Amino acid sequence: MIKRHKLYFFMLLSMTVFGLHAQQSLRERTNIDKDWRFAYGHAADPAKDFNYGVANIFSKSGKTEATPMSKDFVDTTWRHLDLPHDWAVELPFVEVDNFDVQSHGYKPVGGLFPETSVGWYKKQLHFDAADSGARFAVTFDGIFRDARVWINGFYLGNNESGYMGVTYDITDYIHFDKPNNLVVRVDATQYEGWFYEGAGIYRHIWLEKYHNLHFANWGGVFVQADVTGEEAIITVETEVVNETQSPANAEVYAVVMDRNGKELERSEIQSIVLGLNGKASIKHQLTLTNPNIWDLDNPYLYRVKTVLLLDGKPIDHQVEKFGIRTIEIDPKRGVVLNGMPIKIKGTNNHQDHAGVGSAMPDYLQYYRIKLLKEMGSNAYRASHNPPTPELLEACDSLGMLVMDETRLLNSSPEHMDQFEKLIKRDRNHPSIFMWCIGNEEGWIQQNSVGKRLALTMLAKQKELDPTRTSTYAADLANVYNGINTVIPVRGFNYREYGMVPYHKDHPNQPVIGTEMGSTVTTRGIYQVDSLKGYLPDQDLSHPWWASLAEEWWPIVAENDWHLGGFIWTGFDYRGEPTPFTWPNVNSHFGVMDVCGFPKNLYYYYKSWWADEDVLHISPHWNWAGREGETIDVWVNSNAEKVELFLNGKSLGTKKMKPNSHLQWQVKYAPGELKAVATRGGRTFKASQVTTGAPVQIKLLPDRQMLRADGKDATVVNAVVLDRNGNEVPTANNPIYFELDGDSEIIGVGNGDPSSHEDDQASNRSLFNGKCQMVLQAGESSGFVKVRAISPGLQAAEITIELTNSDKKLLGIR
Ligand code: GAL
Repeated sequence: MIKRHKLYFFMLLSMTVFGLHAQQSLRERTNIDKDWRFAYGHAADPAKDFNYGVANIFSKSGKTEATPMSKDFVDTTWRHLDLPHDWAVELPFVEVDNFDVQSHGYKPVGGLFPETSVGWYKKQLHFDAADSGARFAVTFDGIFRDARVWINGFYLGNNESGYMGVTYDITDYIHFDKPNNLVVRVDATQYEGWFYEGAGIYRHIWLEKYHNLHFANWGGVFVQADVTGEEAIITVETEVVNETQSPANAEVYAVVMDRNGKELERSEIQSIVLGLNGKASIKHQLTLTNPNIWDLDNPYLYRVKTVLLLDGKPIDHQVEKFGIRTIEIDPKRGVVLNGMPIKIKGTNNHQDHAGVGSAMPDYLQYYRIKLLKEMGSNAYRASHNPPTPELLEACDSLGMLVMDETRLLNSSPEHMDQFEKLIKRDRNHPSIFMWCIGNEEGWIQQNSVGKRLALTMLAKQKELDPTRTSTYAADLANVYNGINTVIPVRGFNYREYGMVPYHKDHPNQPVIGTEMGSTVTTRGIYQVDSLKGYLPDQDLSHPWWASLAEEWWPIVAENDWHLGGFIWTGFDYRGEPTPFTWPNVNSHFGVMDVCGFPKNLYYYYKSWWADEDVLHISPHWNWAGREGETIDVWVNSNAEKVELFLNGKSLGTKKMKPNSHLQWQVKYAPGELKAVATRGGRTFKASQVTTGAPVQIKLLPDRQMLRADGKDATVVNAVVLDRNGNEVPTANNPIYFELDGDSEIIGVGNGDPSSHEDDQASNRSLFNGKCQMVLQAGESSGFVKVRAISPGLQAAEITIELTNSDKKLLGIR
């Protein structure tokens, strides 16, 4: 079996390696993230919004007047950039006394900031005359938000959602003899959530070329796998669309392949008759014996290739990854994966990382899921919006279950369209175990409107995906009215004291903790500092609606009927600085900070979630000036008992109660605080030592070899060491990063929730001993030297290789 970390690299590489298989001439999908022009428009002044709003461009088809859609428009002063792009992360922090500005992380985006809330994007596309008979479409994976799109001056449409993407057919407008102008006006004036949302085209864009008789672009292939005994029946449902302008007879077959693309099974060929502009669905069933079952430790992904034939010749194909696994949701046994009950050990997360905001390179999706898995987490709730497709690919290929969520509980055409697209886009992902139809809809969750909206959405979910069920995240205790009376799985946001009584009253309705905890901690801080906006890094504080980790997790752990829960949150995110306001700009809810550096609570969860031995002492042992004072020492471990020593002298042995931690009151003296733990007959140790002053920087790259594709990335973490080589946990030195080689620094961070340092810079201060730089590869193979310097410290240098050799990237000689 491939070890977990190896698997991670393998999967990361497979994104590109296996991507090549799909790129055959039948259907081409090309990423068009590169070479865009960008400029701010204006939400209130048409003159500064390139005449948008005063030029009457909608009176005639293709009318552009003097707007960016005009072929004569000169965009040479517009900024040149590559996507993904989040302009909010580039803007400075602003101190404004407004709840939504605060909850979005004090960035000048939204109704109060018309000059930085509208962004225009432009790109030239070129088409080959040889392709003039083909169809073309552009797919946007996600734009924040309210995007209007034109090609060659022709309006394509408006995609309101900041999270659900859209596809536009552009075939009729294309020039084959001159450049084509794709223009997007993004209007982030209106918020959608109450957390940092970013702004701009922050996900990928794809150009697709395909035949006029084709598989439907959005969810046109639905793969379901049923396992009985040694066999898996794979049902492949395809939707075919006829845009040839005449009736057509076609044929379809499906092939199941292993993850290397080797054919395992091929279906019979079925005929299909399509009228003018007709659509038709067709089902194939294939049988695999002794299938490789997708599981959390063996996330094996097969491929299904569907092929469309016209006059016996292939004219379209789609390749979909899928996993063979069974999921049952049982009110007594909880989530049953492949016949085995598993407890959901989940985290909620927003799409936001240090340095880059919502414009995350694909690598960061994998990195973050890897960190969560290392903590022992097995599930991810995409709160409170459709995630990017790459997040789901990371979860599929690393083995992380997903609760996939739509933005709003609403059955309006707009929101039903978003929900429908979400299900059709995502239903082939084996990682998704449940849908979530909404979150804390306080106006309606307890009344009949909420109930009717939920019923409409639930019916849509069952129609499009009969293989799964749904929950709704209610901030209600033992309350049974409105949505709770019809939702298949009762979701609890906090109110953990209501879970046992609720289960007693409704034993046949499964219960899940959609949001649990909301414990607030600042990494490496040990006292409340309300001026800076810091809280102690221990399981001590939570807002009124929430609970400590040790208050919710034991309830879940001790009750087999409980499906499990999702911590609010896995990672800190921008905005929601609860319980503080300015200068605090970031949330404190994460068990890891925005960079992914663990806080102490991480070790509580890891103790009870992961299989390995865990032993962690906090706080650090650098308390110069506090000699003789009592320090509250916490030990997080899954050991049966732990003995603590200060400078070799025993401070006593304590027995661990499952799902808790141990504490000692220790009189401070510098030196070594050591813990010795016993678990299952094994003895293991951990310590905290008093360090000296920092003398040198150390760089810790997550990866040392990247694909030279202009997109691949890695985090490079920086710490400082004293003269004995011990990491200094209290250091706050500034770190300056320098690169020599074809690569770019795309962001920096340090996890300080009150830092106003620029995220888009090449320097960052350490915050309690750590900071992070996100490095993106260029397109030329070779070596990149990464140097970190700081006044008075010995510099550090590492080398990162950029290559396009698949063999090298996979570690094959
Ligand atoms: C919940 C909400 C989350 C987040 C959290 C903070 O009520 O659903 O989005 O705001 O509170 O505790």
